[in-house]
Amino acid sequence: MSEQPIGVFDSGVGGLSVLREIHQLLPQESLLYVADSGFVPYGEKPPELIVERSCRIAEFLLEQGAKSLVVACNTATAAAVGELRLRYAVPIIGMEPAVKPATLATRSGVVGVLATTGTLRSARFAALLDRFAGSVRVITQPCPGLVECIERGELDSEPLARLLADYTQPLLEAGCDTLILGCTHYPFLKPLLQRILPADIQLVDTGAAVARQLQNKLREFALLAQGPAQPARFWSSGDAALLQRVLPSLWKETAPLVQELSL
Ligand code: DGL
Repeated sequence: MSEQPIGVFDSGVGGLSVLREIHQLLPQESLLYVADSGFVPYGEKPPELIVERSCRIAEFLLEQGAKSLVVACNTATAAAVGELRLRYAVPIIGMEPAVKPATLATRSGVVGVLATTGTLRSARFAALLDRFAGSVRVITQPCPGLVECIERGELDSEPLARLLADYTQPLLEAGCDTLILGCTHYPFLKPLLQRILPADIQLVDTGAAVARQLQNKLREFALLAQGPAQPARFWSSGDAALLQRVLPSLWKETAPLVQELSL
């Protein structure tokens, strides 16, 4: 069982930022990745639809032999991780915006969260703030439009820079010195963010922490693989050619053929 693959999914390419961290920490693990590109973006969709999509994808990954699942999407975690854990017996790792690390890192006492509308509206996010914000002021900023650009492989255009500036300006004016990238698509915008933001602004994301949490869970269940890993496999429920085109720049490993998935 321990040599079986790990199933990872997101609404699109965002989860590749998490997949990269998993591959870096656990190179002996075989990885499966589903981009639910036919339904991207999740951020503006009703939670019921995200639960339904997440369950279908989880079942597909389990049919492929996944020993564990990683919900590499803050929005899908907020909507669906509870239901997934009720339905499926394998270890399931979810993710949420890095509020706790950001509150420890801030010097100004003001933190900004860039995330999807769905994540910021969720009960899980409200509970996260209740637990960890303490005396730190946390300002949230939904960012519609960013995910669509990243899905097209657009990571550095002028319109995107303007959109990012519009979203971050109010946070900077409010005194934020730390910005949480609360959507797995956004780490791909780090180079652009670093170009347009003042140099002392810290960017915090959760990919590496999710990889460590996965490692701990696999160890706890005696599921860590010895390797060697099989090459990662990729599926898209939308335009597989589009994922194929952007995959080399985002995955950075040899990119095999993306398969189409109708679920
Ligand atoms: N990548 C996802 C997240 O972490 C969702 C993006 C979207 O589809 O709106 O929230």
